[in-house]
Amino acid sequence: MSSRAPRILAAEWRAAASAPAEFPPAREPEIAILGRSNVGKSSLLNRMVNRRGLARTSATPGKTRLLHWYAVARGAREIALVDLPGYGYARVSRAERAAWQRLVESYLDARRARLALLLQDLRRDWSEDESLLLAWLAQRDLPALVVLTKCDKEKPQRAAARERELRTAIGLPKERVIATSAKTGRGIDELWRAIEGEL
Ligand code: GTP
Ligand code: MG
Repeated sequence: MSSRAPRILAAEWRAAASAPAEFPPAREPEIAILGRSNVGKSSLLNRMVNRRGLARTSATPGKTRLLHWYAVARGAREIALVDLPGYGYARVSRAERAAWQRLVESYLDARRARLALLLQDLRRDWSEDESLLLAWLAQRDLPALVVLTKCDKEKPQRAAARERELRTAIGLPKERVIATSAKTGRGIDELWRAIEGEL
């Protein structure tokens, strides 16, 4: 068996939707990318497929207001990565928050996703939003991996300490929490292996 990771052969934007009626027909197994606004969802997606700029990223939180589907061929496998709008953006109204929840729940309730990646910024604390979301996914029997993001932003020793603290707070088995950086590529191969293990 080759130890080399399969190459990404193709990655392309497929569709965007702001309501269930606009969801594209289900084709490949879908992987949902979930997390707080600005946590690094679009950056992680770009790094996973080695396409800088495929998913739009921004220093301004709340950029991705739609669901975006990206079709990805990796080795012989075809999947779709679904970039979901981020939650917890402070400057949105209660009505917008409710609309986010309806949209994301309608996607997850449609049971199209085979796996959810719940992203957590290494420098932030695991909050009630994340633990509720994780519990909500578990209730629906949707497997989840937690992806720690922006690990390059702390010095190695501090990063290791934060990782330990977060792992304790999250409480998932070790192999379900993966430390990554979209900037350096840390953890991306490990993440793909974990995803393969779930499909
Ligand atoms: P929304 O679409 O607004 O919900 O945000 P998002 O979760 O898609 O975050 P996005 O990928 O747009 O990243 C937000 C900011 O964090 C951008 O300025 C990115 O460049 C930065 N960023 C994301 N991942 C990393 C990382 O691993 N390392 C560093 N240093 N910066 C990162
Ligand atoms: Mg985004």
